[in-house]
Amino acid sequence: MKTALRTSALALSLAVAALELAGCSAADEAVSNVTGGGGSSFDGVYTTVLSKNCNGCHGASAPGYNPGETESTLDFSSADKAYTSLLGKAAGLTGNNAACNDVAFVVPGDAAKSLLMASIDRATRTAFVSGGCNKDSVSAMESRGGTLTAAQVEGVRAWINGGAKR
Ligand code: HEC
Repeated sequence: MKTALRTSALALSLAVAALELAGCSAADEAVSNVTGGGGSSFDGVYTTVLSKNCNGCHGASAPGYNPGETESTLDFSSADKAYTSLLGKAAGLTGNNAACNDVAFVVPGDAAKSLLMASIDRATRTAFVSGGCNKDSVSAMESRGGTLTAAQVEGVRAWINGGAKR
């Protein structure tokens, strides 16, 4: 009897795992549709968001850009540089924004705790707290380089929540 119970419990958890897998790939597919085929991969995020809406200020060729100053250490001038800088922590932010220095831009698997997400999504920003860094010290970036669409924002969220892989 015990074995039978255990066997059916195992069968149940296998079925749940299979369902979760199916749900997961459906979600991936949805994201890949909304981000124009880029999926939740970093290259997709780079092409559809960072190089398009952000590189004008966070890039080596941006006027006045000095790594580690004002625009923090974010260098979006290539996918490799963008990934490396996003894995670091904010530095060089001044004035009101200085409270966010030393906060991780990306916490793999946890978009809600990622400064990058707080900077492009109002709901995340409103709830964001990391030391003294909060909604009052994170600047909104979602409309600085042209307004981000919901699909772009969700593409970034899916990439972070999926483990922020390169
Ligand atoms: C018009 C210039 C400009 C554009 C475009 C821009 N940024 Fe920024 N960004 C800045 C500046 C300047 C700062 C420093 C904080 C400030 O002055 O508000 C900053 C700060 C940040 C920070 C540090 C935390 C914060 O929000 O204060 C992040 C993360 C960030 N930007 C991400 C992005 C992303 C992602 C995009 C594209 C969707 C983007 N930025 C587009 C100028 C820009």
